[in-house]
This record gives sequence, C-alpha cells and structure tokens, in this order.
Amino acid sequence: MDNTIPQILSDLEIYAEENNIPIIRGPERELLLRAAALVGPEGPKKILEIGTAIGYSALMMAERFPKAEIDTLEIDENRHAMAEDGMRRAGVSDRVHCHLGDAADILRKLKGPYDFLYLDGPKGQYLRELQEIEPKLTSEAVIAADNVLFRGLVRSKESVPHRYRTLVMRLRDYISYVEEKYDTHIYEEGDGLSVSRPKGMT
Ligand SMILES: C[S@@+](CC[C@H](N)C(=O)[O-])C[C@H]1O[C@@H](n2cnc3c(N)ncnc32)[C@H](O)[C@@H]1O
Repeated sequence: MDNTIPQILSDLEIYAEENNIPIIRGPERELLLRAAALVGPEGPKKILEIGTAIGYSALMMAERFPKAEIDTLEIDENRHAMAEDGMRRAGVSDRVHCHLGDAADILRKLKGPYDFLYLDGPKGQYLRELQEIEPKLTSEAVIAADNVLFRGLVRSKESVPHRYRTLVMRLRDYISYVEEKYDTHIYEEGDGLSVSRPKGMT
C-alpha cells in the first residue's frame, strides 16, 4: 500500500466524494494553508481543528507544517476511526491527535496554547467555541472559520428560510464578534472562509 501523504489525501478525497462526506473543497484548501502560515515564518506550532470528518484537512495541515502538533475533534465514531487510520498510515499519529466526542465537552479539557484555530464543526457553535478556546490562544493566534457565508444567506438582504434562521443569526453574531475584536477578512470562495488575526498584526 502507498502510504505517502499525497496518496492518502487522494484516497480520502475519493472516499469523501463516494460517501458524501463534506471535506474542504479545492480553492479553500490553499486559502486555509495560507491562513495558517500567517502565524509566522515557521508556521503554526499547535493547531486546533473542530470538525475532523475523515481527517482530510488535518492531514493536509500536517503535511504543510511538519513540525506542528494538531488536535482535531470529531463527534462521529466512524469518521473519527477513519481519520485515525489515515494518520497511522501517514506516520503522523504522534503529532496529530484525533479526539472523539462532542466538541463542547472536549474543548474544556484541552490545554493549548494554540496558535491556529480552524472552526469547521457545528456551524451554529462557532462563537461559543471561539469564546471557550480564546483563553488558550497565543497572542499571535490566527482563527479561521469555514462556511461563514452559508449559501449566501448570511449577507443576504432577502428573508432567510425559516429552517436556517437560527444558524444564519448565529453566523452573523460570529462575524460581528470577530470583526470587532480581530482584523478579519472573509474570503468568498466556496461557502465563505473567515480569517481573523489579532489587531495590528497585519
Ligand atoms: C465539514 S466537516 C469537517 C471537514 C474537515 N475539516 C475537512 O475539511 O476535512 C464537519 C464535521 O464536524 C463534525 N461535527 C458536527 N458537530 C460536532 C460536534 N458537536 N463536535 C465535534 N464534531 C462535530 C461532523 O460530524 C463533521 O464530520
């Protein structure tokens, strides 16, 4: 079996496609890696990802930042098992730690300090998750959050379908918070990726 990271990433991509598992899409991949690289010339030292799925983005970050340690959280047992398997195959299990469970519970137990946070789990929980983890972020930490424009509804002036109202309201709250507290840029590629840095670092 070919256990190089590019091969494993390609296997995960095919599996995700065939099984309808949402993983980071083409144009957003490089954006995410560039956001993580904003931390400094050596890249991030300790990454926290909420929403592992099958480990695609975590493995991609592990490949680009070979010195980084990564904590990644997933609630679905099968996806978590698959992510762990991929990390073992890639020989990175010593520095990519896949945690199984509800992020709301796991977050409290994590130590940090993290210099890159990637929010890609439950979309309605971004603000709560960020506020929980903020005391464990370094002063130069970069925060990325995926899907913040959620199907164009977050910035739309049109009425939001009832079933998405709470989610859209929470994403708007998240954006207001990070725009006020951090230097935040929202990339419109895909479903919207926000990248926030401490004020004055840009
Ligand atoms: C968009 S996917 C993550 C994709 C992954 N970051 C990638 O790009 O390869 C979101 C994941 O978050 C997980 N998730 C949803 N709610 C969660 C929670 N409360 N705690 C932890 N994980 C959760 C879902 O099961 C799903 O696999």
